[in-house]
Amino acid sequence: MSGDLAIGIHDLSVATAQYVLTHETLAARHGADVAKYHTGIGQRSMSIPAADEDIVTMAAAAAAPVIARHGAERIRTIAFATETSVDQAKAAGIHVHSLLGLPTTTRVVELKQACYSATAALQFAIGLVHRDPSQQILVIASDVSRYDLASRGEATQGAAAVAMLVGADPALVRIEEPSGVFTADIMDFWRPNYRTTALVDGYESISAYLQAVEVVWKDYTERGGRSLEEFRAFCYHQPFTKMAYKAHRHLLQHCGHDADDAGISRAVEHTTTYNQVIGNSYTASIYVALASLLDHAEDLTGEAIGFLSYGSGSVAEFFAGTVVPGYRSQLRTDMHREAISRRLDIDYDTYRELHQRPTPVDGGEHPLPRQTTGPYRLAGLSQHKRIYTPR
Ligand code: COA
Repeated sequence: MSGDLAIGIHDLSVATAQYVLTHETLAARHGADVAKYHTGIGQRSMSIPAADEDIVTMAAAAAAPVIARHGAERIRTIAFATETSVDQAKAAGIHVHSLLGLPTTTRVVELKQACYSATAALQFAIGLVHRDPSQQILVIASDVSRYDLASRGEATQGAAAVAMLVGADPALVRIEEPSGVFTADIMDFWRPNYRTTALVDGYESISAYLQAVEVVWKDYTERGGRSLEEFRAFCYHQPFTKMAYKAHRHLLQHCGHDADDAGISRAVEHTTTYNQVIGNSYTASIYVALASLLDHAEDLTGEAIGFLSYGSGSVAEFFAGTVVPGYRSQLRTDMHREAISRRLDIDYDTYRELHQRPTPVDGGEHPLPRQTTGPYRLAGLSQHKRIYTPR
């Protein structure tokens, strides 16, 4: 436990993209059985960003309501987690800082390790709050997952951002010590600097994920963590939502527990509601799972939740959180449902055009078409600079 000081997630806000491509549309195009997507991988649709959206516009849309509710006076740090960064040097969080008009007396940094790095940002934030409990940290996770057309990964694309305010006396979830951690040099998923789409060995990735589950759980328990029976629910990283079921079954079997379908569903089903229609949002996925759980489960007050954060390459971490009394009055359930339901359905050709849209590299003036109806947009590129504006 974190000594006497309770530190954790004080606010949690999810945003996603302008468009949605359903798996019925994808299945019809590829002549696939839609049941493979709906049942086989647990996905029903995927968020697709408009031409004038990216990780920054989604991140700002997620963070703005957090700032509106709590103000920025106590925020001293923005930790922005992503694996689909828009610049090799400048942190994407600086664009968000600018769009939201946050104080200059803020530190902003970007963190990367595939889908894991939002958890690194959360732990980094907790450390800062330990040092000075009057401070709050804005942790943002934002990603657009993109694989080649007609590749195995295509059906697991998606896009979303999560903004979490981390501080002392949190209103939602208190994060506990210890953590169980794992690192191994595995090439299951990667994206060289010269590529806009990720490379993935999906089967290697699933087995690396399951291996990481075993190691982090062992490390967690050896460090005095809770026993499996104490957890009410588990938020897993969800590259596709069926993975949460696979991972939980694996954990139960590894620990010698019954792995009956009903018990597994009870532990993970509410965590998958948003991700099955949003798709993979990489760093954001596990915290979208948390938002989904809090928004959909019966009262979780005082209940322990397990978090299994996995990022290919590979790094993983298991830790626990406890849901705080009164959390329900702080939820953004209506806003989250609206972010999902307001997306516009697109056909395969529109999706393909967005997917194949070239990024200008000549340093010229490149205004972007007005497509998003969200609060912020990428207006264009000018002399190699990305120009973001409120819409
Ligand atoms: N009805 C119901 N289920 C069906 C089906 C149908 N008609 N056809 C196939 N399925 C099931 C399969 O049995 C399988 O389930 P299982 O894994 O429980 O056995 C599932 O659907 C997927 O089928 P598969 O043939 O393995 O699909 P695929 O070759 O297209 O690959 C992934 C699936 C997940 C490997 C692929 O989408 C991928 O690589 N995704 C990216 C993974 C990733 O993001 N990793 C990074 C971080 S973890």
